This record gives sequence, C-alpha cells and structure tokens, in this order.
Amino acid sequence: MSDDAHKHENLIEVPAGTPTAHKVVAQGSAPAFFSAWDLHAYYGESYIVQGVSFDIREGEIVALLGRNGAGKTSTLRAIARVDTPELRHGEIWLDHQPLHTMKSWQAARLGVGLVPEDRRIIAGLTVEENLKLSQIAEPVGWSIERIYEHFPRLAERRDQEAVTMSGGEQQMLAVARALARDIKLLLLDEPYEGLAPVIVHEIERILEGVKELGITTVIVEQNAIAALHLSDRAIILDMGEVVFEGSAQEVLDNADIRNEYLAI
Ligand SMILES: Nc1ncnc2c1ncn2[C@@H]1O[C@H](COP(=O)(O)OP(=O)(O)O)[C@@H](O)[C@H]1O
Ligand SMILES: [Mg+2]
Repeated sequence: MSDDAHKHENLIEVPAGTPTAHKVVAQGSAPAFFSAWDLHAYYGESYIVQGVSFDIREGEIVALLGRNGAGKTSTLRAIARVDTPELRHGEIWLDHQPLHTMKSWQAARLGVGLVPEDRRIIAGLTVEENLKLSQIAEPVGWSIERIYEHFPRLAERRDQEAVTMSGGEQQMLAVARALARDIKLLLLDEPYEGLAPVIVHEIERILEGVKELGITTVIVEQNAIAALHLSDRAIILDMGEVVFEGSAQEVLDNADIRNEYLAI
C-alpha cells in the first residue's frame, strides 16, 4: 500500500455481512428505490470514484453523463458489483436490499442488469442461444417469444451466430439479454456507441419501449443529447464526483452546463 496523498482518509471497509442501519430518504418521505451513498472505488491504488451519491425513484430514467474518463463506467461497474473497481466505502441499496454487501452474481440475481460497453455477446453461439443462456439462472424475465415480438430483427436472425450481426443488432441483443432476466435496474453503458445515426434511432425506439414498461434505468452516453431526450433526470460526473444533478430538460436548456461538463 502506498501513501497516496489523494486517498480518502476515513475509509471504512464495506461490510461483508450485515448491512448497517443506514437509510437514504428521497425528497418527500418514501425511501428511494435505488440509492448510492458516498461511493469510493479504486483500481488498485488508483482512486477513481470519489464520493458519488445519488438516488433514483422507481421507474425513473437517469442519464449519467460526463466527459471521457469522468468515472461513469466505473460507477456502473461498482453498482453492478463486478470485481473492479473495488468499492472500499459507501452503500448501494436497491429495493431495500444492500447491493454493497453482494458479489456481482448476487446483484444480478437481485435484478441488476448491466449492459456493458463491449456488449459481451458470446462468440460461437446463435442469437437464440445467447438469449437462452441468460435464462439459465433464476429469476427469468421476458420469454424468448416476447423478446422476438419486441425485437423482430432478432427473431429474423435467431439462428445466426450472434457475433456476425451488425453492431446495432448486437446492441439490440445485449439489451434483449438483460430483459430476458427479471430486472429491477437496467444499467446501459454507451448503448449508442459506434452506431450509425439511423441505427441509433432504432435503439432509441427500443429504449423508449423499455421506458414505457417502467424499468428503472441508468443510461451512460457520450451522445448526451440523445440520452437526455430519453431521460427524466441527469447526473453529471467530473473527476469521479457528482458536479450536477437536475432534470434532463435543465441540461438540454442550459448550454453553460453542457459546455462546462460535457463539452457539447
Ligand atoms: N481497469 C482500470 N484500471 C485503472 N484505471 C482505470 C481502469 N478503468 C478505468 N480507469 C480509469 O478510471 C477513470 C474513469 O474511467 P471510466 O470510469 O471508464 O470513465 P468514463 O466511463 O466516464 O469514460 C479514467 O481515468 C480511467 O483511466
Ligand atoms: Mg465509459
């Protein structure tokens, strides 16, 4: 361990077992559906997520924005409880359950659906096999038939090896695979990345459908305008800290905020 000057001084180990009595209360009185409280996360000795806190109401769509390297992916990964970055302090609650005490598989079982930037489509498997694989473990969400109704492109390509599809189709599959499980929180990391505008519109329509279903969602996007159009609220990160929180409309209306933190 080095004596990194930037290291948070009062780190407490994330409890491995029993949750503490901490409760985050949203504006009003009901506890928030999702709540991240004072998250500090590290890659080895690199201190990256530096005290991030935010709440999400059930059914809300939140755009998590910020420049490249701001800590968006790291924050999503900490929430999904994947091994890196290591969450050394903070609490994460989803529907009254302490995510911060869980491993990624437990978080997934509880209903955290992370759609990572690289999509993680499994090579050598068809579209349908990729979908079925995500339903091996409980709790199962949408049936394969229901997925095909909502994603006709995937139905057409069900027997095709999934990695041979276009980027847009692979993104559809990545979202569909999350819905194939019974999720409470959908975490989308740059779903429009690398896609042609016409395909972005297609994915946008799919996500609007997801929104109508009332699935609580966090969307990270470099294409901030597109993400804001979909979202109720915006949270902006800079250098691993929350620097703005407000309605999505406020960010769309305020060029100063966009210039300062999003460079658009
Ligand atoms: N695996 C890693 N090991 C060390 N540092 C990392 C790793 N992944 C990301 N970082 C660093 O963490 C910071 C935040 O990265 P990231 O969360 O990916 O930002 P964003 O998604 O907002 O672009 C960056 O400075 C990046 O270099
Ligand atoms: Mg990222």
